[in-house]
Amino acid sequence: MSQDLAKRKAAEAALAYVQAGRVLGVGTGSTVNIFIDLLAESGLAGKIKGAVSSSNASSERLQKIGVPVLDLNSTGELSIYVDGADESNPKLQLIKGGGAALTREKIVAAASEQFICIVDRSKQVEVLGRFPLPVEVIPMAQAYVARRIEALGGQPKLRQNVITDNGNQILDVHGLAIHDAVALETEINLITGVVCVGLFARRGADVLIVGTPEGAQIIKP
Ligand code: A5P
Repeated sequence: MSQDLAKRKAAEAALAYVQAGRVLGVGTGSTVNIFIDLLAESGLAGKIKGAVSSSNASSERLQKIGVPVLDLNSTGELSIYVDGADESNPKLQLIKGGGAALTREKIVAAASEQFICIVDRSKQVEVLGRFPLPVEVIPMAQAYVARRIEALGGQPKLRQNVITDNGNQILDVHGLAIHDAVALETEINLITGVVCVGLFARRGADVLIVGTPEGAQIIKP
């Protein structure tokens, strides 16, 4: 219950960044679901031009509250992208992809002026990697990519019964203590067959909003 309240406090604080008349980037997950519900409750849903969403699940939720879901190819740069995370370190580098939407999340984050990340305290860590690092892979390359990741010191496990919105599979990489997130992001990106790695290090969050049952803390890198 108190974690739900903390998520709500973070989502509420993110409303202050939403600009009327602009297109909003919207991520995926339970914290973002609360944010979408608050867009409706606050009346902001009717004031924004529309949203670009990082998953089919979020698109459906946005459409239910009357927000037009737009194609990123026709919107240009977005003002802000609001999304959750699975882990954040003090540099606001993130692990994302627990909900399997990492590739679209990275694309929408890249196309946004500001990435506003909404979390509760359980997501804050000193060193990334306790949460298994998701890597989206082309299905025929899954075993090859797994061997390359083992050579980097990780223990990849295929996420069972999950196909991404892009028709691919997810390897969850256990056993990492990520001290140089930018270097690991680059190394994994270079493995043939990798579509996307859920390390958001070169482009982390611009603002981290940490919700607690009492309020929200705004952190900038
Ligand atoms: C989705 O793929 C993830 O990157 C989410 O942003 C992440 O799992 C956070 O989800 P919760 O808000 O449910 O914790």
